Amino acid sequence: MMFIKLLAVLSIILGIANSQGAYPDVSNAYLGAGDTGLSYYPSYLGLKMHIRCYSNVTTANQNGPTALFDAGLPFFSTAWVSVIPSVLQNMPAWNISKACFMDRYGYGWSDSAPYPITTQDYVFRLHGSLQAANLKGKYILVGWSWGSIFTQVFSLTYPKEVAGIMTVDGTDSKWGFISANQQSIITYTNTYMNFMSMNNMGTLQSYANDGNVALGFGFFPNGSVAMGFTPNSVSTSQQVWLTNKYLKTAVQEFNIMVISSAVLNFTYAIKGSNPLKDLPYVNIYETIFDQDWIDRQLFMASLSTNSIAVPYATDHFFPWSNGGAIVSGLTALTNKIATNPAVVWGA
Ligand SMILES: *[C@@H]1O[C@H](CO)[C@@H](O)[C@H](O)[C@H]1NC(C)=O
Ligand SMILES: *[C@@H]1O[C@H](CO)[C@@H](O)[C@H](O)[C@H]1NC(C)=O
Ligand SMILES: *[C@@H]1O[C@H](CO)[C@@H](O)[C@H](O)[C@H]1NC(C)=O
Ligand SMILES: *[C@@H]1O[C@H](CO)[C@@H](O)[C@H](O)[C@H]1NC(C)=O
Repeated sequence: MMFIKLLAVLSIILGIANSQGAYPDVSNAYLGAGDTGLSYYPSYLGLKMHIRCYSNVTTANQNGPTALFDAGLPFFSTAWVSVIPSVLQNMPAWNISKACFMDRYGYGWSDSAPYPITTQDYVFRLHGSLQAANLKGKYILVGWSWGSIFTQVFSLTYPKEVAGIMTVDGTDSKWGFISANQQSIITYTNTYMNFMSMNNMGTLQSYANDGNVALGFGFFPNGSVAMGFTPNSVSTSQQVWLTNKYLKTAVQEFNIMVISSAVLNFTYAIKGSNPLKDLPYVNIYETIFDQDWIDRQLFMASLSTNSIAVPYATDHFFPWSNGGAIVSGLTALTNKIATNPAVVWGA
């Protein structure tokens, strides 16, 4: 009797573990054979988040901060695959103990959120998820495009835990007030609703495979392999893109952009000038978009007194077109943290 009860209890426990089976081996989605990453699936406030971490531990970086990478929208952790090998090579010199790549809710291998989650809510939940996974700070935050809002909101929310930030052609805190951007959200939402209809009719896959979806919509072109992505990371990202889970997530995210950017703006406003104080900050950005974008990048850099802004004449898709700039930026940022760390920030 006792034994049967024990078995029942055991199978319930194991059953739970299995039904979350939900812990897939995703190494193929990154570097493929020989990939040394480790996936974490912390569950926090009812949602499981996938965080993929890499380390290369030596005596030089064993106590260094953890770098957190957040991709642009509508991309997720696999957008960083092109730079992971260089990050692994350099992390001892950078004094970074772990480099972790996040799937925001609904992307990659993270649970979908039942409602659109603002960046402010995401940051709170990410912080809780990191604690649950025992991936504690200090942190160096790296955000490409939309991921830049994450670096700023996280820094303002948990200043003591942030050693430095880097934005890669990042979205800024004025972005949401620009009416053309508000309009583009409506257009993008319609586009993804159409993608979903096509997916339900079975026509999306051939449409995307034929090269009709521009990179800005998140579908990895086959040519990504020539730009540093592993073949499997490309095909897996394409498969994820072709799911309604992904497409619905993109719609949810487009619809929190204006509000998240505006709330960040208001958060800055009540802090006065130089709201990022002397937080080490490297801003790398592209100069081919328009003058207003450049002006806003320089303004964003000026929010910290301990920043540099580095222009590149490349496009917005740095992980594809200019992974080297991301690596140089991290060298500059970690130098800054080593030689000119924050004194006032987080004190
Ligand atoms: C690496 O960073 C940690 C945490 O800031 C610091 O204690 C340590 O001295 C740094 N190591 C080197 C070699 O600079
Ligand atoms: C770890 O860093 C060292 C020093 O740069 C490098 O030689 C080695 O290849 C790196 N290991 C991996 C797995 O990249
Ligand atoms: C906030 O938005 C207002 C209105 O666009 C702008 O004047 C101000 O510079 C912005 N501040 C920040 C920190 O983005
Ligand atoms: C990309 O590769 C897939 C799989 O090999 C193929 O079906 C598709 O036609 C290719 N797309 C383009 C635009 O070359």
